[in-house]
Amino acid sequence: MTKHIGILTAGGDSPGLNAAIRGVGKAAQGYYDMQVIGIRDGFRGLVENRTTHLDGSMLSGILTRGGTILGTSRDKPHRMLFNGKKQDMTDVIVENYLANHLDALVCLGGGGTQKNALQLLEKGLNVITLPKTIDNDVAHTDTTFGFDTALGIATNAIDRLHSTAHSHHRIIVVEIMGHRAGWLALGSGIAGGADVILVPEIPYDIEKVAEAIRGRAAGGKPFSIVAVAEGALPIGEAERFHALRERKLNASDKKERKEAKAELAALESKHANHTVDLSRQLEELTGLESRVTILGYLQRGGIPSAADRLLATRLGTACADLIHEGRFGVMVASRGELAEPVPLVDVAGYKKLVPPDHPWVISAKRLGTSFGDM
Ligand code: F6P
Repeated sequence: MTKHIGILTAGGDSPGLNAAIRGVGKAAQGYYDMQVIGIRDGFRGLVENRTTHLDGSMLSGILTRGGTILGTSRDKPHRMLFNGKKQDMTDVIVENYLANHLDALVCLGGGGTQKNALQLLEKGLNVITLPKTIDNDVAHTDTTFGFDTALGIATNAIDRLHSTAHSHHRIIVVEIMGHRAGWLALGSGIAGGADVILVPEIPYDIEKVAEAIRGRAAGGKPFSIVAVAEGALPIGEAERFHALRERKLNASDKKERKEAKAELAALESKHANHTVDLSRQLEELTGLESRVTILGYLQRGGIPSAADRLLATRLGTACADLIHEGRFGVMVASRGELAEPVPLVDVAGYKKLVPPDHPWVISAKRLGTSFGDM
């Protein structure tokens, strides 16, 4: 019997999504003779039943394209803004899954998508996921597609910032994406030779950062590159942030949860300008001029690297194999050379953060790179 599968992309876009759609789609269609449809704009498209037939012509010529041909959204099935209010739309998703005669739903996404996919699995759908995000923070996979491309873009930016920082004897603070994980700032900071790397997993002391920069200036290098992850926090704020998250998680009633949530939101909105604040503080503490560069969405746009195309293709074709075998409720993870299914329950709700003693951190410390912690 021909199997019918649906593919959707959810969460922030990421280079390699089209390569993955192509990998799943071509293997499913050409090798296993399945019917493949694409669902528009993530889980919202499944609620609104907006689909497209992913035939050979749609899957052709997309390997090198950035973004996602299907469109994406950050909508969550159980809390979706619909007709002006947030509603649980999971039952509608189940209805449309059945109406489209789907035997499997492939969800391409990061941490949030894994959680959403698990909820649909619990509703009885045959769900299977792939790990994508430039943040590289999905649990139980060596890496996620999108990360390598973003790493290259951020490294290239740091390379360019070096020459201008050097010429003007300035500090340049460069903000790098990654949500609450430091992989992208750490990787590009090392590859680009940043003098200071600040990541969320290692709270920093601004005095220590300034000391490192002053030390460089005293040694005849009055310029420094500070690679700061968007989620990096100074020591005091990090403690407050973690305490509030705990309070929100363990709140005994609705009122307490609401209060913790509001305090967290206030802290996050104060944090929104942290890179600019950090730069200003460093000027004051070092007497050097400082400038800010926020790389932002440049890190997610454009053509995927060869490594991301290869990874997305490997995981995509392995996904088709697993659907053929009837293996659902799993994420197709990259483990060494292999693509391995990992139960979604072990992935959803967990984040892969940078261990403070990770080999990359140790290696950077051997070079004298400051993390603002000692
Ligand atoms: O998760 C990927 C990511 O690019 C993060 O690095 C960043 O914090 C976030 O998405 C930005 O999200 P949005 O597209 O919602 O602005």
